[in-house]
Amino acid sequence: MTSKKQSPPPWTTATTEQEKYSKTRETTPSKNFIINFHFKYFILFLISVTSWFSILFFFLPPTNLKHQPHRSSLSSTEPIKSILAVDRRRQRNPSKNNVSYVYIYNLPPEFNLGLVQDCAHLNIYINMCPHVANRGLGQQLPLSDDGEAGSGSGAGGGTWFATHQFIAEMIFHARMEDHPHRTWDPARASLFYVPFYGGLHASSKFREMNLTARDELAVRLVDFLQRQPTWRKNNGKDHFIVLGRTAWDFMRSTESGPDFGANSLLNLPRVQSMSVLTVETNPWKKKTNPNQYGLPYPSYFHPSTAAQMLTWQTKVRKSNRTYLFSFIGAPRKGLEKAAIRDELIRQCGESTRCELVQCNNKGKNNKCFEPSEIMRVMTRSEFCLQAPGDSFTRRSTFDAVLAGCVPVFFSPHTAYTQYGWFLPDNPEEYSVFMDEDEAKREKRVINVEEELLKIPRERVEKMRKTVIDLIPRLTYKHPNASDDGGGEFRDVVDVAFDALGRHVRSILAGNK
Ligand SMILES: *[C@@H]1O[C@H](CO)[C@@H](O)[C@H](O)[C@H]1NC(C)=O
Ligand SMILES: *[C@@H]1O[C@H](CO)[C@@H](O)[C@H](O)[C@H]1NC(C)=O
Ligand SMILES: *[C@@H]1O[C@H](CO)[C@@H](O)[C@H](O)[C@H]1NC(C)=O
Ligand SMILES: *[C@@H]1O[C@H](CO)[C@@H](O)[C@H](O)[C@H]1NC(C)=O
Repeated sequence: MTSKKQSPPPWTTATTEQEKYSKTRETTPSKNFIINFHFKYFILFLISVTSWFSILFFFLPPTNLKHQPHRSSLSSTEPIKSILAVDRRRQRNPSKNNVSYVYIYNLPPEFNLGLVQDCAHLNIYINMCPHVANRGLGQQLPLSDDGEAGSGSGAGGGTWFATHQFIAEMIFHARMEDHPHRTWDPARASLFYVPFYGGLHASSKFREMNLTARDELAVRLVDFLQRQPTWRKNNGKDHFIVLGRTAWDFMRSTESGPDFGANSLLNLPRVQSMSVLTVETNPWKKKTNPNQYGLPYPSYFHPSTAAQMLTWQTKVRKSNRTYLFSFIGAPRKGLEKAAIRDELIRQCGESTRCELVQCNNKGKNNKCFEPSEIMRVMTRSEFCLQAPGDSFTRRSTFDAVLAGCVPVFFSPHTAYTQYGWFLPDNPEEYSVFMDEDEAKREKRVINVEEELLKIPRERVEKMRKTVIDLIPRLTYKHPNASDDGGGEFRDVVDVAFDALGRHVRSILAGNK
């Protein structure tokens, strides 16, 4: 089954929603999908998101937080040795009694640390060893806080890293281990984090033809969990798991069809009772999988302090945007959505207002995976085109926001139906939408430059301001960042953590 590297033809599943999608695996770090969009599901999703936000939050009794005062390393997950301390933030603001405290399971190494030890075999296409370094941040880049050549000054050494796009699960774990709301006492926890590196494991088994063997680890994880008294208390409804790959990699179709290597983790009933964060959810399964939420892809900037974040935001705000728009990407062969990519590459190449970075040359000078080159192009552009790639979502969306570049979407599933916890409710505040499906139905070709030039100047400025203000909450802080240091900022993990707390409170309240 080595043919999986080539793009398989799209196929149609026999579901009522007529989902139609195809999928390949990354040859370069990326992957694959096509789906027909159904607007009503988008609306349904928006309604469900707004309605749970409006549910009255359940008040939990005050809890003492047990906080590990020292940095934890990958191997020091032993609970007993930690010295207990009351959370300083709670002392500063004792009225915050509805915040959640998280207990992190000390899983057997085969579910996380053991996998990382075998980093050379974690992905069937590339060696992940450089990418799992620095707790998933990857290799440090020789850039200073403002992204210029130089050396980093971050507390853990450096702010810029060549971070792999499918590594969120590791960074999340590292951040949670040192989170001020971590507790070592399960009795005091309202959230239970299961730090399984399921995405890394999945990408090591894409070519495993024995389905029992492919699913084996997920099954063992569930066995482990259901033996825990902490699981049985709420049947896992207060548990969560974070996966750095797309949901499609964990939802093997039961219908016969081409096998793209996915396992069945998210099809297991016990996993479905947990909250699951993935970098791309299945937008048609919001009703059947109400506990699945989109999590931003990690980009390259991992500051430790609010000052470092401000330095970058200031630089991006002042940046000279000499190009109206830019496109960084490769054409896709044999896929329906290749049409829009080819068209964007053509339009961008023909426009003097567009900067094009093509990724299709496999040579050594391929600049499109070089973080500093990506940032250089995106900080010089007003708009960054986000055509669906191998899948709907793209890490590039988060690179664009980091660069203060207003993203232009062609599918609502690239961001709007995915990251409800992190992005403003109104997409017009921070992005431009060019409806590719509508254009196709009307048999017209979108003229990107023309459409972008129609947008009033003041709306462009306003969108850019919103985008730049979004940077902190879409950034993964350096895991060694101290919340008590010189002014904190709230990052992806903080936002996700609060949202998980609200979600779990509301579902447990609903069950009573
Ligand atoms: C706690 O809940 C109240 C009411 O639901 C809300 O106004 C407040 O912002 C919440 N505080 C925190 C820290 O979440
Ligand atoms: C965090 O700090 C510790 C102790 O200084 C260090 O050993 C570790 O490498 C740092 N972590 C990262 C990801 O840089
Ligand atoms: C498939 O894998 C399972 C679990 O590893 C093993 O027990 C079984 O013998 C394998 N089946 C075949 C046909 O190799
Ligand atoms: C931005 O462009 C203007 C006009 O071309 C130039 O005067 C200015 O120095 C540039 N600023 C930076 C930071 O490059």
